[in-house]
Amino acid sequence: MADDDPIKVLMVCLGNICRSPTAEAVLRARILERGLRDRILVDSAGTGDWHVGSCPDQRSQSAAARRNYDLAPLVARQVCLDDFARHDYILAMDWANLQHLRELSPPEHHHKISLLLDYSDNYFGDVPDPYEGGEEGFELVLDLVEEACENLLDGIVQKHGLE
Ligand code: 4NP
Repeated sequence: MADDDPIKVLMVCLGNICRSPTAEAVLRARILERGLRDRILVDSAGTGDWHVGSCPDQRSQSAAARRNYDLAPLVARQVCLDDFARHDYILAMDWANLQHLRELSPPEHHHKISLLLDYSDNYFGDVPDPYEGGEEGFELVLDLVEEACENLLDGIVQKHGLE
């Protein structure tokens, strides 16, 4: 990787319509706030293919919009083999997706894969899947993701000397 290549982050959940697009939008907002838009790129994908081509779940869009994140332009896609070489950080929203990513990834890229909540000070383990539940699940996703993304970004900035 050349010194001026942007750092590339991939957020991964199951469907790519609730948690990972939320994490993509939250991290992108923090990146923009810090003036790092050319230094850090963020994308998201799902391990499953059921929702490929769909925009984020309306409930995720509404919850995110209440905190000023715009999920509307995002379109679901499935994780592909190229993702492992292309990205520097691959963050799974839960343990099942982490396992799936480890199975899909060539061994030389395993070190890039971790749980998003490994970056949290207050929470650990899974960002719970909100798909079958009520509105509070979508708020919880935002709470967990916002806190972890702040720490994730601090860590990337520090590690790569970006500020
Ligand atoms: P996500 O949520 O993984 O956070 O996008 C889900 C979306 C859809 C399904 C499961 C989880 N589904 O089973 O269709």
